Amino acid sequence: MIGPPGAGKTMLAKRLPTIIPPLTLEEALETTKIHSVAGKIDDHTALMTRRPFRSPHHTISDVALVGGGTFPQPGEISLGHNGVLFLDELPEFKRTVLEVMRQPLEDRVITISRARSTVDYPASFMLVASMNPCPCGFHNHPEKECMCSPGMVQKYLNRISGPLLDRIDIHIEVVPVNYDKLSDHGKIEKSADVRERVIRARAIQAKRFEDVKSIYSNSQMTPSMQRKYCQLDERGGRLLKTAMEVRGLSARAYDRILKVARTIADLAESENITTEHISEAINYRNLDREGWAG
Ligand SMILES: Nc1ncnc2c1ncn2[C@@H]1O[C@H](COP(=O)(O)OP(=O)(O)O)[C@@H](O)[C@H]1O
Ligand SMILES: [Mg+2]
Ligand SMILES: [Zn+2]
Repeated sequence: MIGPPGAGKTMLAKRLPTIIPPLTLEEALETTKIHSVAGKIDDHTALMTRRPFRSPHHTISDVALVGGGTFPQPGEISLGHNGVLFLDELPEFKRTVLEVMRQPLEDRVITISRARSTVDYPASFMLVASMNPCPCGFHNHPEKECMCSPGMVQKYLNRISGPLLDRIDIHIEVVPVNYDKLSDHGKIEKSADVRERVIRARAIQAKRFEDVKSIYSNSQMTPSMQRKYCQLDERGGRLLKTAMEVRGLSARAYDRILKVARTIADLAESENITTEHISEAINYRNLDREGWAG
């Protein structure tokens, strides 16, 4: 999420647990095991029933984030397994911290090597991050003026490396909501209702992957599953091809757009990915766009 201070980025992230689905039994067992290894559960908790929501501060060390130490401990990315890892104010995190997350984001597992042994900890988490668009925060703001030079805006965005951005499925601009809208309680969809939609979409995915161990959602699809389940019609295919060329998207971005489109289709309970679904997924790649800061 990118947007000015006060737009509601932190608030949105913190509400995420109210719309994500409950853990399946299998996920609950995996999650409990990791938290237990890390000594993070008290003796009274037999089984964790809620998805973890982790939001480490930006001063966190590499080891605390990805895991390690003399007796290798799971880090925040593993404590967030099957849940959410929220990095608020992403550019404030040390560059090395962001770089060590790249591999686990891809593999959904982290291998910690020691002199005599290696340990694998699962790390399949939903990464959520927020940032201001520039040092002063008001770049692209509808009312306030940005005080930063164009060079400064670009430099700020560059703190997040392209390869890391590439691994984030949805880039979304969060714009401040004005008073009238905030106080209009007319037709607001409740979190509980959103959650019902999410649960239905998840049920479709559970069915899709019922024969495959450790795959529960579209984001975890292997390349061959992606070929099978993310077919586009001719128009959709052309749209994606054009977007790739015009925006100079990577092969990784391509895969991620397809998976997001599959999820959008699932939320709409549509068997096929339509042009509308794929175009929505493409629009979530805001920050790949050349000259966003320009
Ligand atoms: N769309 C919104 N709906 C309700 N409250 C909002 C909204 N946007 C901002 N707020 C209020 O403004 C406060 C500041 O938002 P915050 O999430 O801290 O912004 P950011 O992280 O983008 O700087 C929130 O605690 C919330 O009370
Ligand atoms: Mg904030
Ligand atoms: Zn600015």
